[in-house]
Amino acid sequence: MTNMLVTGGAGFIGANFVHYWRQHHAGDTIVVLDALTYAGNRANLAGLDDVVFEHGDIRDTALVERLLGDHAVDTIVHFAAESHVDRSIHGPAAFVDTNVLGTLSLLTAARSVWLAGSGRPHRFHHVSTDEVYGTLGPNDPAFSETTAYAPNSPYSASKAASDHLVRAWHHTYGLDTVTSNCSNNYGPYQFPEKLIPLFLINALHGRPLPIYGDGQQVRDWLHVEDHCRGIEACLTRGRVGETYNIGGGAELPNLTVIDTLCAAVDAAFAADPALAARFPDAPAAKGLPTASLKTFVTDRPGHDRRYAIDETKARNELGYAPARTFEQGFAATLGWYLANEGWWRAIMDGSYRDWVATNYAARA
Ligand code: NAD
Ligand code: DAU
Repeated sequence: MTNMLVTGGAGFIGANFVHYWRQHHAGDTIVVLDALTYAGNRANLAGLDDVVFEHGDIRDTALVERLLGDHAVDTIVHFAAESHVDRSIHGPAAFVDTNVLGTLSLLTAARSVWLAGSGRPHRFHHVSTDEVYGTLGPNDPAFSETTAYAPNSPYSASKAASDHLVRAWHHTYGLDTVTSNCSNNYGPYQFPEKLIPLFLINALHGRPLPIYGDGQQVRDWLHVEDHCRGIEACLTRGRVGETYNIGGGAELPNLTVIDTLCAAVDAAFAADPALAARFPDAPAAKGLPTASLKTFVTDRPGHDRRYAIDETKARNELGYAPARTFEQGFAATLGWYLANEGWWRAIMDGSYRDWVATNYAARA
């Protein structure tokens, strides 16, 4: 049995992971530590009454030490972060505070409780991103675990720094660590600032779909449940001190993702006439194509052109492979957002509208 501390467990991937772990590892203790920033939401953990929830900050080292001791924690899965590239361009300091200093605080607590204190077998799993490797040209080989770090945004620079801290705590102090670097996640509970949920909800309201630059940037799309399976594989089979790349096997230009989304929304409205009554401003409610909302806007500064994951190591060592195609994962995601209108309406509050104005109003 495992006693697990999940940081950022009320955010998008963290909450999906907590649901996944509860479903597949009944009986384990799960403690969630989350500061409930704009991206954190208690509703993401609805129905999980036996999960211990601690509202607090990973930078509070004394709090983390208390939680590790009180719950005899042997496993930390570290998701907590500022995660949105565009926000890091507008306000980089918060990314250094949370992603770098927050990770330092967790490592400090883990070292003092696990290495200097209890000496119990342990694992610190650090969830990171493929963005630490920088950007690829169209014919470059995909990122492998030995690709040199070359982060380009304040977000990816802060994640790269945190990865280096985790590596150092293993090599210097002997902490049992594993790091995973994954590609773009999508699925239930994703905050509607990221491409797929933002565009879905805009499409339902008849609002423009703001495509940065020429829309030919390439990402590898990973359904969040496949990512959870990848983390589970790292936790159970990953070698101490190693890093593993986790991808979705779905390298696609943004325009292809957006066209898939538009076509799927059109098809959903055609199949279910009740949607037109629920979302009367959607073009699809008036028999018009959702693609009519596509709008090319000023590019993101420093926008990485292409990410791609070489997952040979995860496949060979962990037996990991994504279980879903993008088409399957996207169809399920569209269904989830249509069925959970109350969830996304509740989080599109004043601070969300302020963010939309900050990021999009000045874009030509
Ligand atoms: P998210 O923004 O949806 O959630 C982040 C969570 O962390 C929120 O619940 C927030 O309240 C919490 N948090 C923030 N600061 C905190 C602090 N100081 N103390 C405690 N909790 C705090 O993020 P996400 O998309 O779920 O990403 C989770 C992790 O996965 C991040 O580390 C991110 O860098 C990484 N990642 C995300 C993606 C992706 O596509 N979303 C891809 C690769 C890696
Ligand atoms: O690659 C992993 C990373 O994926 C994670 O580390 C980050 O936490 C996560 O946010 C994500 O970063 P991206 O910047 O790739 O995701 P985002 O959804 O913001 O954008 C995806 C692509 O869509 C990117 O090329 C920018 C583009 N885009 C995004 C938004 C929000 C647009 O064209 N218009 C938009 O309004």
